[in-house]
Amino acid sequence: MVEYMFILGSNWLLSIAELLVYVRNRGYEAVVSDHSRHAVILDFKEKLSLEEVVDMQAALGGCYKVGRVIQTYNIIIPTNAYPTNGKPDREALEIITSCPWLPDLWQRPRGKKIKFGVSTYPIIDGKAPIQYRRFTRGLDDTIKKLLLQKGARKADYFAYDEPDRRKVKRMNLALWPKTIAKNNLLTPPNAEILAVFTQKNLYLARTMVIYDSLLQQYRDESRPYISSEISTSPKICRTLLNLAGARPGDTVLDPFCGSGTLLMEAAMLGMKVIGVDINGNQVQGTKANLSWFGRDIGEQIRFDIIRGDARNLTNLIRKEVDAVAFEPSLGPVTKKKPTAKEAEEIIEELTELYREALAQIAQVLRPDGRVAMTIPVIVSRAGPVSMDIKEMIKGTGLGIYRMLPADMIKSISDSDENLRISPNREVLPERKMGQVVQRQLIVLEK
Ligand SMILES: C[S@@+](CC[C@H](N)C(=O)[O-])C[C@H]1O[C@@H](n2cnc3c(N)ncnc32)[C@H](O)[C@@H]1O
Repeated sequence: MVEYMFILGSNWLLSIAELLVYVRNRGYEAVVSDHSRHAVILDFKEKLSLEEVVDMQAALGGCYKVGRVIQTYNIIIPTNAYPTNGKPDREALEIITSCPWLPDLWQRPRGKKIKFGVSTYPIIDGKAPIQYRRFTRGLDDTIKKLLLQKGARKADYFAYDEPDRRKVKRMNLALWPKTIAKNNLLTPPNAEILAVFTQKNLYLARTMVIYDSLLQQYRDESRPYISSEISTSPKICRTLLNLAGARPGDTVLDPFCGSGTLLMEAAMLGMKVIGVDINGNQVQGTKANLSWFGRDIGEQIRFDIIRGDARNLTNLIRKEVDAVAFEPSLGPVTKKKPTAKEAEEIIEELTELYREALAQIAQVLRPDGRVAMTIPVIVSRAGPVSMDIKEMIKGTGLGIYRMLPADMIKSISDSDENLRISPNREVLPERKMGQVVQRQLIVLEK
């Protein structure tokens, strides 16, 4: 068994669900052996090649970094070495600072100029009796000292970046992907060391691949048609594609395609795409975006974008599709909370729209195909109003595909309720603080 560490997106549970679907869908044998709200440790039966890991990270919407685990310590060791209260325990400190993994990572440091950096991910932000900042600096200093002792010409580390500007209180002890890319920290002999704390252990890993934030920013900002009012985030689009089991070469349908964000992500992953939208402007926008993307990468993209109603798909599409992924209209965009009755009426209307669309989707979907979509939860003045899923899928020929399969979750850090992964879920939330329309993700199968 070989352990890999995945640094998760902000919706950690959804990121894990996506990862597990991806892993199973691609035929890997792996289980979650440990996790925190920032990272998951997956135990793979076989070693992965660098290429496999690169493909995996690039395909996932909720994974920032992937590394191979190089050392595991019981959590007692760092807790005693860097306590928030009382004196550090010398023995524990020595265990960490002896860095037994170092000769494996840098086999011949002599004469080399080495740049590196430690990125630390706590269990839950601000919780746990460990001085994370001191731990991170301490490990950076120790690695530098050991490398110089072993004859490195230079050993310079990059310390964690500034705190998160959006959430000032959030501790950030991890290097941003931009810093890592700019300083070539993934090119040997340089390295980034990931330090992940869970309830039970501290894991160290060497980063193999990171999220390409510059490429994503370029694509988001350069595409010709942006419709920010309705656009779905590219990350959620990737997650939906993975949950729907879409693979390179597959034909993917988005029956509510809007500005085509999901279809662009699918095209980037080598899928053939079909889009439908009732609004002519959106149809033109999606076509412009996909043509631009094709020119940008210098390849002919295969797409078919049709103006029409998702409730009438069988008259619009003659082809069988392998996977369906989308964000439908989630109701009126409003900042004002509706009354419970108003919310119920909106939900009822949408349930009917989705049911009719899903019945048509089931007819164009290949026999064992899946559908991944978002559904709304409307926060009314009297509290949240969600969909009756049974009602939504009644008579469509689709059933619920449960996420987070129990047989893949063997995490040893599951005792805190803030960390619990309850398996076999029908829906997973995708919350945005303060929004009237919240979302859930659901996967259906034929
Ligand atoms: C939330 S938006 C999709 C956003 C899209 N994922 C993107 O990133 O641009 C929903 C879209 O569904 C379209 N729509 C609404 N009702 C429809 C229907 N009955 N059939 C097809 N499209 C519909 C709307 O025009 C809108 O563009």
